[in-house]
Amino acid sequence: MRKKVTVVGAGNVGANCALRIADKELADVVLVDIAEGIPQGKGLDMLQSGPVEGYDISIVGANDYEPTAGSDIVVITAGFPRKPGMSRDDLLMANYEIVKTATENAMKYSPNAIFILVTNPLDAMCWTSWKISRLPRHKVIGMAGVLDTARFRTFIAEKLQVSVENISALVLGGHGDTMVPITRLTNVSGIPLSELLDAETINALVTRTQNGGAEIVKYLKTGSAYYAPSASTVEMVESILKDKKKVLPCAALLEGEYGLNGIFFGVPVKLGASGIEKIYEVKLTDDEQAAITKSAAAVKELVDVLQQKTQ
Ligand code: NAI
Ligand code: 2OP
Repeated sequence: MRKKVTVVGAGNVGANCALRIADKELADVVLVDIAEGIPQGKGLDMLQSGPVEGYDISIVGANDYEPTAGSDIVVITAGFPRKPGMSRDDLLMANYEIVKTATENAMKYSPNAIFILVTNPLDAMCWTSWKISRLPRHKVIGMAGVLDTARFRTFIAEKLQVSVENISALVLGGHGDTMVPITRLTNVSGIPLSELLDAETINALVTRTQNGGAEIVKYLKTGSAYYAPSASTVEMVESILKDKKKVLPCAALLEGEYGLNGIFFGVPVKLGASGIEKIYEVKLTDDEQAAITKSAAAVKELVDVLQQKTQ
């Protein structure tokens, strides 16, 4: 039987997720947005790419959730993107309401779905969707680490003039300025990064990765990145639908791992048919653990605000 994915939010990230899912022929897609006509128009346009690209999937757009019934995965991208000078955290309360509504509606029609969150502030929006849906933690997953790692890999490959495919990197922590690229475990076909680049150059690449989203916002001025974010989201969708069991950095609800409790946080996980099938605990140095603790505090601050305002 064909798989079905609902993408909530037919804006830049959502529409590109839908198109990438179609291009890879992973599943039928339902695009949902509050903007009248937009998901329907984009959906129809994508459907008409099928004969040219050679995909046989159904893509429909809607302003309600009825057509989403029985989805295997629900990807939530609905929300406001960042504008120049705005932090991801500024988006907190506005996007809380949007993610809450989207989760409630999607759960009504697809209670067995796995939820992938994209809306920012990412870690807090994962917590929102998990809290509202009451799903077990392995079924609510946040997309950030795949993107942050892709940015780090891109910058390293560019610097060394080697294939991006040869770079293996790991970025842990919250999706914000405090994210923690673990340079000690980053390598180029097994060669440690520290043997190829000096500390100053590595630090500059880390800083560029931490500011990777803002760098693009500065260029675009009216929104944030969407090509790499949609590619990253669809890598997660594919790993789940095909039960590939890829090990990817994703936001997961921690219950004691890394000494953290009750927050979503970027860690390496195994993604398969049941969602998160394993959370990997990497042994960290004292400095790395300190950076993780700082990043966790930034995430917790937002969750605390949500907890207070929504009680
Ligand atoms: P966009 O503005 O292009 O699209 C957002 C869409 O959400 C719009 O079409 C809007 O009509 C829709 N929307 C608003 N309220 C809705 C509701 N209640 N129900 C359904 N749809 C609703 O924004 P873009 O660029 O697609 O970004 C979406 C979100 O993803 C933002 O919060 C952005 O910050 C976040 N993002 C997160 C990334 C990550 O790494 N986790 C990467 C890139 C973006
Ligand atoms: C990014 O990192 C906006 O979170 C988004 O591009």
